[in-house]
Amino acid sequence: MKQQLEGMLAAARTALAGADAEAALQDVRVRFLGRKGELTALMKEMGALPPEERPAMGALVNRVKEEIEASFAARLAALREEEIGRRLVAERIDVTLPGRIHGGGSKHPITLVREEIVEIFSSLGFGVEEGPEIEKDFYNFEALNMPKDHPARDMQDTFYISDEVVLRTHTSPVQIRTMLQHQPPVRVIAPGTVYRRDSDITHSPMFHQIEGFLVDHRVTFGDLKGVLTSFISQFFGQGVAVRFRPSFFPFTEPSAEVDIQCVICGGKGCRVCKNSGWLEILGSGMIDPEVFKSVGYDPEVYTGFAFGMGLERVAMLKYGVSDLRLFFENDHRFLRQF
Ligand code: DAH
Repeated sequence: MKQQLEGMLAAARTALAGADAEAALQDVRVRFLGRKGELTALMKEMGALPPEERPAMGALVNRVKEEIEASFAARLAALREEEIGRRLVAERIDVTLPGRIHGGGSKHPITLVREEIVEIFSSLGFGVEEGPEIEKDFYNFEALNMPKDHPARDMQDTFYISDEVVLRTHTSPVQIRTMLQHQPPVRVIAPGTVYRRDSDITHSPMFHQIEGFLVDHRVTFGDLKGVLTSFISQFFGQGVAVRFRPSFFPFTEPSAEVDIQCVICGGKGCRVCKNSGWLEILGSGMIDPEVFKSVGYDPEVYTGFAFGMGLERVAMLKYGVSDLRLFFENDHRFLRQF
């Protein structure tokens, strides 16, 4: 029996040393020390020994058991240690590598200009409205006093989706949508994307406008001048000269185009202002009574003014950008500067 025990201890040690994973190690433990294990089986045979031999054999069994336990614990600790070592190597991070820097991004100049204009008009009490880019002929033309045969439709190079549906050519249809929904007084600013069949250095088939209009009792051309002059001095700077020049739009009467003193040459005359010293920045006028009729406002009771301007154009002037296409190419070297 003593020999058997010693053989068992040796076999257990070999088996433990050979186990190279925790699960295999546990199997070895069960094989020797488990309830149906080899050592347990041997202990059951002790009852057959003469009584005088039992104490010595009992002590030996206990020693073998402790040694197997100790070997098991040592091997387990070694396996865990190895595992940690492997992970440290596999998951090593080289903290001396330079970091990867992600640029913070910036707002597009058109967004910046739109936000600034909205901000200025908000401070004057205007609220923001939006309308769809795919628009009915009625809102884009008809209700703005441009019936089907009106010559002014030619100015607008329209993308037609069907006879009655267009890509809006301007933000003016938002006037109609708003007035159909709200009774005066209304004070609204409407930024948005617009489309025209036009493409060269100064025209893009997709561009942006901002529309503004105000309707109330006794609104005069003086109010139009006051509001636009105040806007221009806030946006382009105090002291920039402003000029109102007679013009024509089907939806306003009288109409005026607004020029500012050339921001490039200060009015002396240069290539940008074609030597005139002035730059046109927006169209405006007193809302035509025909427009009021098409939205159900009484032109005998209410008057109002409206204006519209191109965001790319004012952004070019404000930031001194000479090529419209830069706004649509999304070259980081350009965008980063704003
Ligand atoms: N809708 C015009 C355009 O796209 C701009 C415009 C002119 C808007 C006069 C207005 C206005 O509201 O009163 O050319």
